[in-house]
Amino acid sequence: METMRWLEEGLLELLDQTGLPGTVNYLKCGDYREVATAIKNLSVRGAPAIGVAAAYGLALAAGNIEAESRDAYIDRVREAAVELAATRPTAVNLCWAVERVMRRLISTQSDDPGVLRHAVLDEAHAIRREDESGNRRMGEFGRELIPQGARILTHCNAGALATAGYGTALGVIRAARAEGKDISVFAGETRPLLQGARLTAWEMYQEGIPVTVITDNMAGYLMAKGMVDLVLVGADRITSSGDVANKIGTYSLAVLAKEHNIPFYVAAPVSTVDLSLTSGSEIQIEERDMAEVTHLAGQQIVPTGVQVWNPAFDVTPARLVAAIITERGIVRPPYPQNLKKNILTSQSEEAD
Ligand code: MRU
Repeated sequence: METMRWLEEGLLELLDQTGLPGTVNYLKCGDYREVATAIKNLSVRGAPAIGVAAAYGLALAAGNIEAESRDAYIDRVREAAVELAATRPTAVNLCWAVERVMRRLISTQSDDPGVLRHAVLDEAHAIRREDESGNRRMGEFGRELIPQGARILTHCNAGALATAGYGTALGVIRAARAEGKDISVFAGETRPLLQGARLTAWEMYQEGIPVTVITDNMAGYLMAKGMVDLVLVGADRITSSGDVANKIGTYSLAVLAKEHNIPFYVAAPVSTVDLSLTSGSEIQIEERDMAEVTHLAGQQIVPTGVQVWNPAFDVTPARLVAAIITERGIVRPPYPQNLKKNILTSQSEEAD
C-alpha cells in the first residue's frame, strides 16, 4: 500500500493513517495547506514520509502561484516552505526536504514559471525515489545484525507507512526475512496514538511476518523472560554525538535493553542525522494535544480537569545505542567520529 501518490493532474494523494487499520482512505490534496494539516494531524507521519509529503506540498504551492517576477515567485514558494517546515518540530527530515527543494528552485536559472514548477516537482520525485532506494540499501546493510530466529522488539512504526516505501527499522526486518531468516516481531502498541498496534502490526501481518502486539508497559517483563533478542527502532533526529530522538517510550526500551544485555539498534537515513546539533538535549521535542492522552477511541479516560503531559518523542543517549544503520552502512561507537565519517565519506564516493 502506497503512503502517498502524485497524480498527473497535479494532485497529491495521502493515505490517511489515522483511519488504519480499519479504514483505508486517501486524502486528495490540491493545496499545500492541506498537506500541512495532514502532517500536523498525523494523517501522514514518520520522519521520512513527512519530508517527502512536504516536498510534494511545495510542488502543489509552486503549481498554484501566479507571480509577476522570478523573485516574487520564489518568495511565495518560500512562504509555503516556512509553513510546511513548521508543522512538526522534531523530525529533521521535514526541514531537510523543504530546504533541499528550495535550493533546487533557487539554483534553477529561469524566469519561466513552468520551468521553476517542473524543478520543484522533479526534486520532490527525487527525494521520494531516493528515500525508498536508500531504505532498501539500509535493509541490506542492517540484516547482518539480525540473527537467524531473532525475536525483535520494535516501537512505533518505522515501516513503509513512515517512509516513501519499504521502511527503515521494518525495512531491515523485511530484508532479513527476504534472505530466509525465520524471525518474529514484538510491536509495542505505542501510546498515546498506537502506531505500533495499528500500523506496525498491520504492515507485518500483511507481509506474513509473525507479529505479536504488547502494551508498552509489558516490555520489561518480556525482556526479563528472555523473549527478546534485539531491539530495533527508527529515529526522528540523530545528533552528531549519536543521541537519538524517536517516539516517546523509545528511551525506556533502551534502558531496559541495557539492563538485560540486549542490543539496541537504530535504523535511519542520513537525512535524519543533524550534524548541527551535538547533544540530544538540543533537540526540540514536540508536545501534542492533551486530548491524545485524555481520550482513547473517542472515550474520555482521564477525569475532567486532571493535568496531562504529552511529549511525542524522547531522547535515547548514544551510550545506549549499539549501532546505527544508515543507507551507507552500519555505524558503531564512537559516534562523534564514525557518524560523520559514514555521512561525509560516502557522500564524496557517491559524487565520484
Ligand atoms: O509521531 P510519528 O508517528 O510521526 O512518530 C514516528 C516515529 O517516531 C518513527 O519511529 C520515526 O519517525 C522513524 S520513521 C522511519
